[in-house]
Amino acid sequence: MVATPVKAATERKETILTPRFYTTDFGAMANLDISGHEAEFEAMLAEFQADYNRRHFVRDKEFEQSWAHLDEKTKEHFRFFLESSCTSEFSGFLLYKEIAVRIKDKNPIVAECFNLMSRDEARHAGFLNKAMQDFDMVLDLSNLSKTKKYVYFAPKFIFYATYLSEKIGYWRYIKIHQHLAAHPENRIYPIFKFFESWCQDESRHGDFCNLLLRTEKQNIEGWQANWWSRFFLLSVFATMYLNDMCNRKEFYEALGMNTEEYVKVVIRETNRDAMKAFPVVLNVDHPEFWARLEACIPHMHQINRIQASDQPQWQKALAKLPHQLFLAWQFLRLMLMQPIVSPKGAIL
Ligand SMILES: [Fe+2]
Ligand SMILES: [Fe+2]
Repeated sequence: MVATPVKAATERKETILTPRFYTTDFGAMANLDISGHEAEFEAMLAEFQADYNRRHFVRDKEFEQSWAHLDEKTKEHFRFFLESSCTSEFSGFLLYKEIAVRIKDKNPIVAECFNLMSRDEARHAGFLNKAMQDFDMVLDLSNLSKTKKYVYFAPKFIFYATYLSEKIGYWRYIKIHQHLAAHPENRIYPIFKFFESWCQDESRHGDFCNLLLRTEKQNIEGWQANWWSRFFLLSVFATMYLNDMCNRKEFYEALGMNTEEYVKVVIRETNRDAMKAFPVVLNVDHPEFWARLEACIPHMHQINRIQASDQPQWQKALAKLPHQLFLAWQFLRLMLMQPIVSPKGAIL
């Protein structure tokens, strides 16, 4: 074990890219009508109850060593990765647990699925939190849940957003796992060998969110569903792209990965997967899609620099404005690009 003092992960600044905590309309969630899909929900519940990863998240001997040999920069990037991953997992745990508790009397099958998903997310967050201690850091999860701002989303938006965050989570973990399986010399910390089974949890969670989306036809058919699909796909993809390209590049490079190739393949695979859930997906094969995202990178760096400066808040807001307008313009143009219609019968 490392003997240096442990520091709390509380000083990091909130940015538009930090993971968020969500809340929703629990009454509407309780009234969700699953008739017509009951067999699928029962099958999903059986999958969660099988609990394939019950014995997976156990720290083995490989963790019992000092990580002092890693250079300080690599450790700092690791901390950032572990902290944001742990916060995302914990945010999922809180939301799923709260839904499960609030709807269990009226909608027991859906509630139990949420309850078992919260079990998975608690394991994931706990495992990451232990890893953070290896890098001299603790994340006070109970305090985090009290101090973080909660964003309200109506149930259907929770379904779109969580479907995508689960599926992109799956692709993120599996692609890191595949890279390190091919280049074991770059596996500088043992947590990555847990990713293969771990990401199967995320994929199942995504499948459940897909099922929730299909409880109402208007979520997957018609012009509104088309626009919401485009909006959520773009939000999730742009967030990942800018986060990875501007804030996490060094982390991926420490693992011997090419960040740009990684982020592109994860977005492409998630977009392809989303054809099973959304009526339309983004045209990620169009060069304009990547050109517009790439153009945002220097502006994101500028925003980060201004945010980290010592200027008064009003000066920061003023200085960031032209860069934020640039991003907003690019996102608007990306939203207006011609989408790809999901093939007939693709939606599961
Ligand atoms: Fe998770
Ligand atoms: Fe998950």
